Amino acid sequence: MDTIECEYKAELPDGDLFEYTIDTEYYKFQHWDELKTDFKYDRMASYFNILVPTSDTVKYNFMIGKLTDGGFNVLVSGETGVGKSVVTRDYLQNAPENIDSAFVNFSGKTTTKNLVDALEGKLESRRRDVLGAKPGKKMIFFVDDVNMPQLDAGKAQPPCELLRQVIDQGGFYDTKKLFFKKVQDTKFVTACAPPGGGRNEVSPRLFRQFTMLWVPSLSTQSMRLIFTSILRGYFDLKEDPGLSLQAEDIIKATVDIYENSITTFLPTPSKCHYTFNLRDLSKVIQGMLMCPYDDIENKDYCTKLFACEIFRVFRDRLVDEDDRRKFSEMSHRIMETHLSMDWSLEDFETVIFGDYDNQRRNYVLLG
Ligand SMILES: Nc1ncnc2c1ncn2[C@@H]1O[C@H](COP(=O)(O)OP(=O)(O)OP(=O)(O)O)[C@@H](O)[C@H]1O
Ligand SMILES: [Mg+2]
Repeated sequence: MDTIECEYKAELPDGDLFEYTIDTEYYKFQHWDELKTDFKYDRMASYFNILVPTSDTVKYNFMIGKLTDGGFNVLVSGETGVGKSVVTRDYLQNAPENIDSAFVNFSGKTTTKNLVDALEGKLESRRRDVLGAKPGKKMIFFVDDVNMPQLDAGKAQPPCELLRQVIDQGGFYDTKKLFFKKVQDTKFVTACAPPGGGRNEVSPRLFRQFTMLWVPSLSTQSMRLIFTSILRGYFDLKEDPGLSLQAEDIIKATVDIYENSITTFLPTPSKCHYTFNLRDLSKVIQGMLMCPYDDIENKDYCTKLFACEIFRVFRDRLVDEDDRRKFSEMSHRIMETHLSMDWSLEDFETVIFGDYDNQRRNYVLLG
């Protein structure tokens, strides 16, 4: 048999091979990190739309793009709060020009009519019985939280079954005028977390239509990178180098408190709501961003703001005095380590911020 001679010698990189892509120009392995763009904080953007590029976001962006280009439907799955929705939305917002996108969010109350309305409203009507993308474009239809719809009496999820019909049979029936409407040039990207907490098990007949990507939980480094970038971006607006430097320490403390809380405060039958995820971490930063940066006079004020937010998000969820004391001691210890603060436990338990005490409704220190 002829041997194939290759003039390029690819050397295997160190570490995890999934952390690399292939540079097709120079035929070498390239770390995903090298492809990520710099993050720029946009003060006008809604907090929920902020995406900090990390090697993971670049990787999933690339995979979703390649799979949909190749004609596959994609299911993005992973534990709750790992960033499935932000990553997919970011791909759609920055998709190439020939791609048109639409977005629907399923919930427990979604009905088949909602899905039909979304398809008819967001796809272009090409002929009476054909829906599709705009001329010369491909449509990517993103269905978020696809496993949320309630089960009916027959244990099926009607909107999911309708979605299956659209993919499987290429369209759906107009139930009023009784004819079949074709859906063309459209690929579906769906996202969902595993069943539990209102999310149901979806019929394999639907999921067999998809190529699944599993998004693993974020590493401590990624969490720090994401939230430090956002907080530093916000503090930079004040042009006070001391404050910007503090962002990193605050995030280290937040991530430590979050990681300690998920291992210390476990859900039990009487405390079934003791479930913390990335979204809680995110809420702490969102709360800090509510305070106008001009009002953050000094390091001490900033630490108080942070203490208030971390208490509102984590401590207020704890139901007995024992847990609350444990949380206060743990967060006090961590804050002493990272923020070199000099307060007693009682001092910072009473810190409170609010927006109801001044005319401008600014979120400021109340006591
Ligand atoms: N790369 C990132 N940049 C900025 N924020 C991020 C990033 N990754 C995750 N987040 C934050 O994490 C939180 C959870 O993200 P997201 O809503 O996308 O999770 P999800 O996986 O869709 O969760 P669910 O299954 O509950 O819908 C959001 O508040 C988001 O701001
Ligand atoms: Mg989501």
